[in-house]
Amino acid sequence: MRNLFIVLVAVACLCGCDRRSEAERFADDLMSRMTLREKVGQMSQFAPQTGVVTGPEGEPMDLNALIKAGEVGSVLNVKTPEEIWELQRLAVDSSRLGIPILFGHDIIHGCKVIFPINLGSACSWNVEAVKESARIAAAEAAAMGIAWTFSPMCDVSADPRWGRVSEGSGEDPYLAAKLSAAMVEGYQGEELADSTTIMACVKHFAAYGAPEAGRDYNTVDMSERMFRDRYLPPYVAALDAGAATVMTSFNDFNAIPASGSRWLLKELLRDELGFDGFVVSDYRAVTEMIAHGVARDTTEAAYKAMKACLDMEMVSGSYLNSVEELVKEGLVSEKEIDAMCRNVLVAKYNLGLFEDPFRYGGAERFAGSIYRPEDLAFARSIARESMVLLKNEGEVLPLDGGERIALIGPYISSPRAMLGSWTAFRDYDRTVTIGQGFEERFPGKVTMTAGCGPYAEIDGGIAQAVRAARNADVAVLTLGLPGEFSGEAASMTSVELPQAQKNLLAAVKAAGKPVVVLLTTGRPMALESVIDDMDALFLAWHPGTEGGHAIADVISGDHSPSGHLVMSFPRCDGQIPIRYNHKATGRPLEGTAPDPLISMKKLYKSCYLFTPDTPLYPFGYGLSYTEFEFDSLEVVDKDNIHIGDDVTVRVRVSNVGDRDGATVAQLYMRDMAASTTRPVRELKGFERLHLRKGELRVVEFVLTAEDMSFWREDMKFGQEPGEFRLWLGNHSDATLEASFTVRP
Ligand code: GLC
Repeated sequence: MRNLFIVLVAVACLCGCDRRSEAERFADDLMSRMTLREKVGQMSQFAPQTGVVTGPEGEPMDLNALIKAGEVGSVLNVKTPEEIWELQRLAVDSSRLGIPILFGHDIIHGCKVIFPINLGSACSWNVEAVKESARIAAAEAAAMGIAWTFSPMCDVSADPRWGRVSEGSGEDPYLAAKLSAAMVEGYQGEELADSTTIMACVKHFAAYGAPEAGRDYNTVDMSERMFRDRYLPPYVAALDAGAATVMTSFNDFNAIPASGSRWLLKELLRDELGFDGFVVSDYRAVTEMIAHGVARDTTEAAYKAMKACLDMEMVSGSYLNSVEELVKEGLVSEKEIDAMCRNVLVAKYNLGLFEDPFRYGGAERFAGSIYRPEDLAFARSIARESMVLLKNEGEVLPLDGGERIALIGPYISSPRAMLGSWTAFRDYDRTVTIGQGFEERFPGKVTMTAGCGPYAEIDGGIAQAVRAARNADVAVLTLGLPGEFSGEAASMTSVELPQAQKNLLAAVKAAGKPVVVLLTTGRPMALESVIDDMDALFLAWHPGTEGGHAIADVISGDHSPSGHLVMSFPRCDGQIPIRYNHKATGRPLEGTAPDPLISMKKLYKSCYLFTPDTPLYPFGYGLSYTEFEFDSLEVVDKDNIHIGDDVTVRVRVSNVGDRDGATVAQLYMRDMAASTTRPVRELKGFERLHLRKGELRVVEFVLTAEDMSFWREDMKFGQEPGEFRLWLGNHSDATLEASFTVRP
């Protein structure tokens, strides 16, 4: 059968037509020989009973029997390269047409070499590094036999109660768009048929990052304008980068579950955005339309998903179980089935699976492709760049190596605190913990004690920690959230430190030595209630396989911290959701509100009675061991700018400190008076800069007409004349300001 595929592929190539129609010609020819069930089989994805678990259990099914019947298009969550090839061998040799299986998995921040969680890597603002991390992840995954990753996650979110913020690129659509596109390019490379590149998957379509109350899977309801302005751009950027697939989200979007939304999946995704790949549901999301209350049974759920042009169903099996009835009743035509099946076959063709079903994977290739030294070195580098120095009172950091260090806290020896969620192929014994990193970098200088668990006290733990602190020159506390508690199904009503950790911190602070907190977490945390107990606060996120090394690299001063926040850090839970790019309101608070207990007056401003409306640490913020200054902000030709013109902006950045370092120059814009309310600031340019001490550089940004466009009152995307303000600096509260007017 494979020889027939090779001949057919050759014929398709000989006809010299473009790749898509070549693939379509091949797919149509193959479909002419397929039964209805075989076609819907290509539209069905299953997971092995013994596979990695990434969703709720379902009814048992015989995967091997389905594969032999030619009724499995894709399999996800297989654990080993050997099992992948076993299943592929079964499909190719035992099914009637021998159509290869497409193997998928969530390789979202590394396969074997684990990189920082995506929210961490995003804080590097290093687009090329994020792309490279995707490329490495793809190479390891492909070597395992995985030809499709369910990544990038493009869901914008400003709500740290939602555990999946760890998987995305933060609250800003402009930055998330750049990073999502970079990941697609990293995964897919120049040629999908290359055996080291894999298909990307734009997820979760759409607006999954805005669930009511920050509770996973919850309702999303917003105006189309808000969706298009704030949530859609990263999906579009990833599609424009050529993403081969899209995954629907669990949530209902404006009362229609995404997996059954013809507006989202046909009218917007295909007709307006021109997507021609294939769409897969999320895990059981098709039959979850019953729980959503929009389908009476699995047949109606399958019907709604098919009519929405959802090409492939993940795991719930309703397509296979309902297709004959739906076609017999005339509810779904075989032509509609062909269109969806074709999208899946074309993807397999483009991956080269018909030419060689074993192009990806093989135990020997896998063993020789993972944990390459250069990839581990890269993981250490991007981990360093992902970490954010938030506080450094009295320049406690960097440690100069002479101090006696009391390393305290529940995460000292936790590999999972380094890896975070979605790391199914991790190896704890290859993961460098914080304790290992410190012992290597500060030999003979480190004493270690847990002090408490992540959530529970330890008998005598605090007393031991206090003693250790008293006998040291500096106390370094590893605090935050466990790696297991980020990602999916990990929503929290509070993002404060657990009480046991607060108690430990207070006790160690009272010991009277400088306190450095290393925060490992998959989400922003509310730290105002404890920040005074910290002399230095260093945000490590879940930094990956090389996390312990990277942390020691920066804490020791071998490298200067250079990460900048991509999500605001709230003062307290009550501020959530909090974002820098909020609207002004008709009663914006200027400056800070006086204490109402003294004034006993209300301000009639959009603010809280007892809490500032500003975050503890704003979007874009991050300290260095050196100092940067921004000046000479100039709008080129500012008096002669018209609709459609690009606007060139220049600024001078200087490293005025006493050591080399990196920062991120960030350009923010505000449209001062438009036909709709606009954010008080919007990121519209950034550049990561490494400057030697004393070095200065002029940086140029170009604001395009598109950058100044938005979904206007007439619901058309475009520019409007008027006054614009600009700010330039290395955080979203930058004060260096300029303005210009766009004339008609
Ligand atoms: C999960 C996640 C999705 C993932 C999929 C397969 O439920 O929502 O992000 O890609 O199932 O594991």
